[in-house]
Amino acid sequence: MTELSPLDSAKDAAARAAVALVQDGMRVGLGTGSTAVFMVHRLAERVHAENLRLRLAATSRATCDLAGQLGLTIEELDDIGWLDLTIDGADEIDPDLNLIKGGGGAHLREKITAAASDRLIVIADPGKVVETLGAFHLPVEVIPFGWQTTRVHIQHLLETLDLTHRPMLKRQRDGRDFVTDEGNMILDLSLDVIADCKALSSGLHAIPGVVEHGLFLGLCDLALIGSPDGGVIEMTRPEVVA
Ligand code: A5P
Repeated sequence: MTELSPLDSAKDAAARAAVALVQDGMRVGLGTGSTAVFMVHRLAERVHAENLRLRLAATSRATCDLAGQLGLTIEELDDIGWLDLTIDGADEIDPDLNLIKGGGGAHLREKITAAASDRLIVIADPGKVVETLGAFHLPVEVIPFGWQTTRVHIQHLLETLDLTHRPMLKRQRDGRDFVTDEGNMILDLSLDVIADCKALSSGLHAIPGVVEHGLFLGLCDLALIGSPDGGVIEMTRPEVVA
Protein backbone atom coordinates (compact mmCIF):
# COMPACT_ATOMS: atom_id res chain seq x y z
CA MET A 1 0.00 0.00 0.00
CA THR A 2 1.32 3.48 -0.85
CA GLU A 3 2.25 5.65 2.10
CA LEU A 4 -0.57 7.92 3.22
CA SER A 5 -0.24 11.70 3.45
CA PRO A 6 -0.49 13.17 6.98
CA LEU A 7 -4.09 14.23 6.26
CA ASP A 8 -5.10 10.81 4.98
CA SER A 9 -3.36 9.15 7.95
CA ALA A 10 -5.53 11.27 10.24
CA LYS A 11 -8.69 10.30 8.36
CA ASP A 12 -7.69 6.64 8.42
CA ALA A 13 -6.98 6.75 12.17
CA ALA A 14 -10.47 8.15 12.82
CA ALA A 15 -12.01 5.58 10.47
CA ARG A 16 -10.26 2.67 12.19
CA ALA A 17 -11.38 3.87 15.63
CA ALA A 18 -15.00 4.08 14.49
CA VAL A 19 -14.94 0.70 12.77
CA ALA A 20 -13.56 -0.83 15.99
CA LEU A 21 -16.92 0.07 17.60
CA VAL A 22 -18.88 -2.07 15.14
CA GLN A 23 -20.05 -5.39 16.59
CA ASP A 24 -21.29 -8.56 14.95
CA GLY A 25 -25.01 -8.38 14.16
CA MET A 26 -25.18 -4.58 14.03
CA ARG A 27 -27.15 -2.53 11.52
CA VAL A 28 -24.79 0.17 10.29
CA GLY A 29 -25.18 3.29 8.15
CA LEU A 30 -22.23 4.13 5.91
CA GLY A 31 -21.46 7.81 5.34
CA THR A 32 -20.13 9.64 2.29
CA GLY A 33 -16.94 11.54 1.51
CA SER A 34 -13.19 11.02 1.55
CA THR A 35 -13.04 10.10 5.26
CA ALA A 36 -15.95 7.70 4.87
CA VAL A 37 -14.03 5.99 2.05
CA PHE A 38 -11.37 4.96 4.59
CA MET A 39 -14.11 3.74 6.91
CA VAL A 40 -15.74 1.57 4.22
CA HIS A 41 -12.34 0.01 3.41
CA ARG A 42 -11.59 -0.69 7.09
CA LEU A 43 -15.07 -2.10 7.64
CA ALA A 44 -14.76 -4.39 4.62
CA GLU A 45 -11.44 -5.67 6.00
CA ARG A 46 -13.07 -6.50 9.34
CA VAL A 47 -16.16 -8.06 7.76
CA HIS A 48 -14.03 -10.41 5.65
CA ALA A 49 -11.42 -11.18 8.34
CA GLU A 50 -13.93 -11.80 11.14
CA ASN A 51 -16.88 -12.99 9.07
CA LEU A 52 -19.07 -10.31 10.64
CA ARG A 53 -22.78 -10.45 9.88
CA LEU A 54 -23.88 -6.85 9.44
CA ARG A 55 -26.82 -5.15 7.79
CA LEU A 56 -25.57 -2.09 5.93
CA ALA A 57 -27.26 0.99 4.46
CA ALA A 58 -25.42 3.58 2.34
CA THR A 59 -25.90 7.36 2.36
CA SER A 60 -25.09 7.83 -1.34
CA ARG A 61 -24.74 6.01 -4.62
CA ALA A 62 -20.97 6.57 -4.42
CA THR A 63 -20.73 4.78 -1.06
CA CYS A 64 -23.07 2.04 -2.25
CA ASP A 65 -20.84 1.45 -5.29
CA LEU A 66 -17.63 1.41 -3.23
CA ALA A 67 -19.12 -1.00 -0.70
CA GLY A 68 -20.22 -3.31 -3.51
CA GLN A 69 -16.73 -3.27 -5.03
CA LEU A 70 -15.33 -4.29 -1.63
CA GLY A 71 -17.72 -7.22 -1.34
CA LEU A 72 -20.17 -5.66 1.13
CA THR A 73 -23.89 -6.07 0.66
CA ILE A 74 -25.91 -2.86 0.88
CA GLU A 75 -29.61 -2.89 1.65
CA GLU A 76 -32.24 -0.17 1.39
CA LEU A 77 -32.62 1.79 4.61
CA ASP A 78 -36.35 1.03 4.56
CA ASP A 79 -35.69 -2.71 4.38
CA ILE A 80 -33.49 -2.51 7.49
CA GLY A 81 -35.82 -0.07 9.24
CA TRP A 82 -33.55 1.22 12.00
CA LEU A 83 -29.80 1.36 12.48
CA ASP A 84 -27.65 0.84 15.55
CA LEU A 85 -24.96 3.12 14.28
CA THR A 86 -24.06 5.44 11.41
CA ILE A 87 -20.46 6.43 10.77
CA ASP A 88 -19.98 9.52 8.63
CA GLY A 89 -17.62 12.43 7.96
CA ALA A 90 -18.29 16.14 8.48
CA ASP A 91 -17.14 19.47 7.11
CA GLU A 92 -17.25 21.29 10.46
CA ILE A 93 -17.73 20.12 14.05
CA ASP A 94 -18.37 22.55 16.90
CA PRO A 95 -17.80 21.88 20.63
CA ASP A 96 -21.48 20.83 21.05
CA LEU A 97 -21.06 18.34 18.17
CA ASN A 98 -23.26 20.36 15.87
CA LEU A 99 -22.09 19.87 12.30
CA ILE A 100 -21.99 21.26 8.82
CA LYS A 101 -22.21 18.46 6.29
CA GLY A 102 -22.90 18.21 2.59
CA GLY A 103 -19.54 19.16 1.09
CA GLY A 104 -20.04 16.09 -1.07
CA GLY A 105 -23.69 16.91 -1.70
CA ALA A 106 -25.07 13.88 0.14
CA HIS A 107 -26.43 15.59 3.26
CA LEU A 108 -30.09 14.76 2.51
CA ARG A 109 -29.58 11.00 2.56
CA GLU A 110 -26.99 11.42 5.32
CA LYS A 111 -29.47 13.24 7.55
CA ILE A 112 -32.28 10.75 6.91
CA THR A 113 -29.88 7.92 7.75
CA ALA A 114 -28.48 9.64 10.87
CA ALA A 115 -32.00 10.35 12.11
CA ALA A 116 -32.80 6.64 11.77
CA SER A 117 -29.79 5.59 13.88
CA ASP A 118 -29.34 5.10 17.59
CA ARG A 119 -25.93 6.78 17.29
CA LEU A 120 -24.18 8.99 14.77
CA ILE A 121 -20.41 8.77 15.02
CA VAL A 122 -18.49 11.36 13.07
CA ILE A 123 -14.96 10.72 11.86
CA ALA A 124 -12.69 13.59 10.85
CA ASP A 125 -9.24 15.10 10.74
CA PRO A 126 -8.38 17.94 13.16
CA GLY A 127 -9.01 20.62 10.50
CA LYS A 128 -12.75 20.02 10.82
CA VAL A 129 -12.99 21.13 14.46
CA VAL A 130 -14.16 24.75 14.86
CA GLU A 131 -15.38 27.02 17.65
CA THR A 132 -18.38 28.30 15.65
CA LEU A 133 -19.94 26.83 12.52
CA GLY A 134 -20.03 28.84 9.30
CA ALA A 135 -16.58 29.24 7.73
CA PHE A 136 -17.38 26.24 5.50
CA HIS A 137 -20.17 26.98 3.02
CA LEU A 138 -23.57 25.71 4.12
CA PRO A 139 -25.11 23.46 1.43
CA VAL A 140 -28.84 23.78 0.88
CA GLU A 141 -30.51 21.22 -1.39
CA VAL A 142 -33.33 22.77 -3.40
CA ILE A 143 -35.87 21.51 -5.92
CA PRO A 144 -35.00 22.63 -9.49
CA PHE A 145 -38.53 23.98 -10.06
CA GLY A 146 -38.54 27.67 -9.10
CA TRP A 147 -35.05 27.53 -7.63
CA GLN A 148 -34.37 31.23 -8.27
CA THR A 149 -37.48 32.14 -6.29
CA THR A 150 -36.35 29.79 -3.54
CA ARG A 151 -33.01 31.59 -3.56
CA VAL A 152 -34.76 34.94 -3.03
CA HIS A 153 -36.63 33.47 -0.03
CA ILE A 154 -33.32 32.26 1.42
CA GLN A 155 -31.78 35.70 0.88
CA HIS A 156 -34.67 37.32 2.77
CA LEU A 157 -34.24 34.82 5.60
CA LEU A 158 -30.54 35.62 5.90
CA GLU A 159 -31.32 39.33 6.06
CA THR A 160 -33.98 38.72 8.73
CA LEU A 161 -31.42 36.80 10.79
CA ASP A 162 -28.79 39.55 10.29
CA LEU A 163 -26.49 37.04 8.66
CA THR A 164 -23.90 38.69 6.45
CA HIS A 165 -23.41 36.60 3.39
CA ARG A 166 -21.74 36.54 0.05
CA PRO A 167 -23.65 35.57 -3.11
CA MET A 168 -25.24 32.17 -2.89
CA LEU A 169 -23.61 29.91 -5.44
CA LYS A 170 -25.38 27.23 -7.39
CA ARG A 171 -23.03 24.26 -7.04
CA GLN A 172 -21.30 23.18 -10.23
CA ARG A 173 -19.28 20.10 -11.08
CA ASP A 174 -17.27 19.70 -14.29
CA GLY A 175 -18.84 22.87 -15.72
CA ARG A 176 -22.42 21.70 -15.14
CA ASP A 177 -24.99 22.10 -12.39
CA PHE A 178 -24.34 19.57 -9.65
CA VAL A 179 -27.22 17.10 -9.39
CA THR A 180 -27.81 15.26 -6.10
CA ASP A 181 -28.73 11.59 -5.81
CA GLU A 182 -32.33 12.77 -5.49
CA GLY A 183 -32.14 14.85 -8.70
CA ASN A 184 -32.02 18.22 -6.95
CA MET A 185 -29.54 21.09 -6.99
CA ILE A 186 -27.45 22.66 -4.25
CA LEU A 187 -27.07 26.30 -3.24
CA ASP A 188 -23.91 26.94 -1.19
CA LEU A 189 -24.28 29.71 1.40
CA SER A 190 -21.09 31.54 2.44
CA LEU A 191 -21.91 32.88 5.89
CA ASP A 192 -18.60 33.04 7.83
CA VAL A 193 -20.22 32.70 11.26
CA ILE A 194 -23.62 31.21 12.10
CA ALA A 195 -24.51 32.67 15.49
CA ASP A 196 -27.95 31.06 15.79
CA CYS A 197 -27.93 27.68 14.06
CA LYS A 198 -31.40 26.71 15.31
CA ALA A 199 -33.04 29.84 13.89
CA LEU A 200 -31.32 29.34 10.55
CA SER A 201 -32.25 25.65 10.47
CA SER A 202 -35.93 26.21 11.16
CA GLY A 203 -36.07 29.22 8.84
CA LEU A 204 -34.65 27.19 5.97
CA HIS A 205 -37.01 24.29 6.65
CA ALA A 206 -39.96 26.69 6.38
CA ILE A 207 -39.10 27.73 2.80
CA PRO A 208 -40.96 25.84 0.07
CA GLY A 209 -38.46 24.40 -2.38
CA VAL A 210 -35.80 23.76 0.26
CA VAL A 211 -35.42 20.01 0.64
CA GLU A 212 -32.71 19.89 3.32
CA HIS A 213 -29.73 21.85 4.55
CA GLY A 214 -26.35 20.75 5.88
CA LEU A 215 -26.74 21.82 9.52
CA PHE A 216 -26.83 18.68 11.69
CA LEU A 217 -27.96 19.90 15.10
CA GLY A 218 -28.13 17.52 18.05
CA LEU A 219 -27.69 14.47 15.83
CA CYS A 220 -24.05 13.56 16.49
CA ASP A 221 -23.24 11.51 19.59
CA LEU A 222 -19.49 11.11 19.29
CA ALA A 223 -16.77 12.61 17.10
CA LEU A 224 -13.51 10.75 16.59
CA ILE A 225 -10.75 13.10 15.50
CA GLY A 226 -7.76 11.32 14.03
CA SER A 227 -4.18 12.61 14.02
CA PRO A 228 -1.48 11.99 11.43
CA ASP A 229 0.45 9.98 14.04
CA GLY A 230 -2.46 7.54 14.37
CA GLY A 231 -3.84 8.90 17.65
CA VAL A 232 -7.55 9.62 18.06
CA ILE A 233 -9.28 12.19 20.26
CA GLU A 234 -12.88 11.59 21.31
CA MET A 235 -15.29 14.51 21.45
CA THR A 236 -18.56 13.95 23.26
CA ARG A 237 -21.52 16.27 23.65
CA PRO A 238 -21.40 18.36 26.82
CA GLU A 239 -24.08 17.39 29.37
CA VAL A 240 -27.10 19.69 29.20
CA VAL A 241 -27.91 20.83 32.74
CA ALA A 242 -31.67 21.17 33.25
C1 A5P B 1 -20.92 14.44 2.06
O1 A5P B 1 -22.01 15.07 1.52
C2 A5P B 1 -20.49 15.18 3.28
O2 A5P B 1 -21.44 15.41 4.23
C3 A5P B 1 -19.23 14.58 3.88
O3 A5P B 1 -19.54 13.73 4.92
C4 A5P B 1 -18.42 15.70 4.36
O4 A5P B 1 -18.34 16.63 3.31
C5 A5P B 1 -17.02 15.26 4.78
O5 A5P B 1 -16.33 14.87 3.64
P1 A5P B 1 -14.78 14.56 3.70
O6 A5P B 1 -14.60 13.41 4.60
O7 A5P B 1 -14.42 14.27 2.26
O8 A5P B 1 -14.10 15.82 4.17
